[in-house]
Formats: sequence, structure tokens, C-alpha cells
Amino acid sequence: MSRRKQHVPWTTAGTASEQQHSADDVVRETGWVFNNRTGRGLDLAAFVETGDHETLAYLQAFEIADGIERQSLVEIGSGIGRMTASFSQMFARVTACDLDGAFLERCRETVAQFGRPDRLQTCHVDDGRTLLIADSTADLTFSYITLQHCHPGDALALTREAVRVTRPGGHVALNYRTWTASDAVLWPVGKVVRGSFRIPGVGSALARHRATARLGWQANRLDPATVLREVADQLHDVRLVHSPKRSAFGVEGVIESTYVGVHRSHWWLVATVR
Ligand SMILES: C[S@@+](CC[C@H](N)C(=O)[O-])C[C@H]1O[C@@H](n2cnc3c(N)ncnc32)[C@H](O)[C@@H]1O
Repeated sequence: MSRRKQHVPWTTAGTASEQQHSADDVVRETGWVFNNRTGRGLDLAAFVETGDHETLAYLQAFEIADGIERQSLVEIGSGIGRMTASFSQMFARVTACDLDGAFLERCRETVAQFGRPDRLQTCHVDDGRTLLIADSTADLTFSYITLQHCHPGDALALTREAVRVTRPGGHVALNYRTWTASDAVLWPVGKVVRGSFRIPGVGSALARHRATARLGWQANRLDPATVLREVADQLHDVRLVHSPKRSAFGVEGVIESTYVGVHRSHWWLVATVR
């Protein structure tokens, strides 16, 4: 199991998910890790339904939904398959990638129950930054609420990997989080809390606790210019999609658009690979 600080809340939740008897119990115990919903009334069906509402909405908003029934998708940070089940219904092939092997096992179960398991492969991102996937093989590489939780260097490495595994003419749709006023507090507190996860005895309990885990996973904030410096020369038709509630980033040579489904602190890089 990885002991890197940024990985601790995820591997801890993964281990917790392994210990649950049923997939419904997994959602009740660790589902909040993915979509922040809690409650005894939750079950896997309700959890997957939240993903169903988001997948096609994003693809349509980003104008990359045409012909997907013949395409292959790589999803970075699939978790236990909240969105993967729906993607497997829409795409011909899906490769679900995650840092945590136990999540990938649960993802297979979720897709078996609510999606198309015959279309699913999984990819364990053991080092948090490398996809064991051949170059230029995906039509679309997608990532949602994942790159914000990685060490900044890993998030940028995964961005380069997303471009590498996507075929020329294919698309990337990658979600990031940037700075907001609340980060003046959240960011330093998150750093201290992540450090506490390594304290023998109490660390693993803190990483399992909802409030401290949520603080600890505040691992990076990336602005579009920093991300584009890594990959802009390999992309064209670059678009930044953000919330209508925030002002434009103002990056030269890049189209910006808004979509109501984007959180105020988030932004998406949507582009075609050269
Ligand atoms: C908030 S969850 C989002 C899961 C899914 N995208 C969804 O919307 O339900 C973030 C996921 O990213 C995974 N993750 C975190 N860091 C990662 C990394 N460096 N590489 C790959 N996956 C990572 C976690 O294990 C977790 O499953």
C-alpha cells in the first residue's frame, strides 16, 4: 500500500471498502469519498444514478458526445464506478484507472450490476502518476474530481499521460480545481492534516474520519496556464470550461466557455490531441 501523504485518504477508504459485506454497505461507508453524499438510506443504485446524471451532461456540454458508441474511453480516477457504469453503457470500451486496487475491484462489481462488464478493463495507477496503457489508444480520456486530489507533480504527470494515451484527433476532458478565497485557510490546514495521517496510532483513524479526510485531500490547486505549459503544444481546439459564477481566466489563444454544471472552483480542459 502506498504511504505517500496524498494517497493515504484514498488507500484508507479503499481498505474500508474491502471490509464491507455488500456494495450497498460500501456506498454507505465510503460513498461520501466520491460524491459527498451521506445517509443510511443510500445504496449502490442511488450512488450510480448520481453518476448517470453527470456523464452524458458533461459530454454534451463539451460537444464530444458524437459517435461515442464506437469509441474507447479512459477514465482517470474511477473510484468504485459511480460514473464508470454509465460510461460502459455509452462507449464501446472503457478503461477505469485508479490509485486504489480495492476501488477497482468494487468498480468491476458496480459495472457488472449497472453497466456493461464486457466492455470494462481496469488499470491500477500504482505510483499515482503513470497509466499502464499504450500510446494513442483512447478516443477520449476523461477525469473528474481526481486531479485536484493528487500531488501537483502527479496531476501534471497524469495530464501528460492523458494526452499520451489519446489518439491524434481524440479528445481529453480533464477537471481541475483552482484557487478561491477559502483556500487561504483550506490549503495550509490541508497540508497539516495530511502530515497528521502519518502519525503512528492516530493517523489512520484521522484518514478514515470524514472531516479530516476531506481536509487532507485538498492536495493541489492548478490554474490553466500551469497545466497548458505541459501539454499545449500537443493539443488544438483548446477550450477552458468554467462556472458562469466566476470570471474568465484570460489565457491567450484559448477559447473559454461556461457551463452551469461546473463548480465555481473547478475548470475543465477540453481539447483535441494533435
Ligand atoms: C473524489 S473521487 C472521484 C471518483 C469518480 N471520478 C467520481 O466522480 O465518482 C477521486 C478518485 O481518484 C482516485 N485518485 C486519487 N489520486 C489518484 C492518483 N494519483 N491517480 C489515480 N487515481 C487517483 C481516488 O482513489 C478516488 O477513487
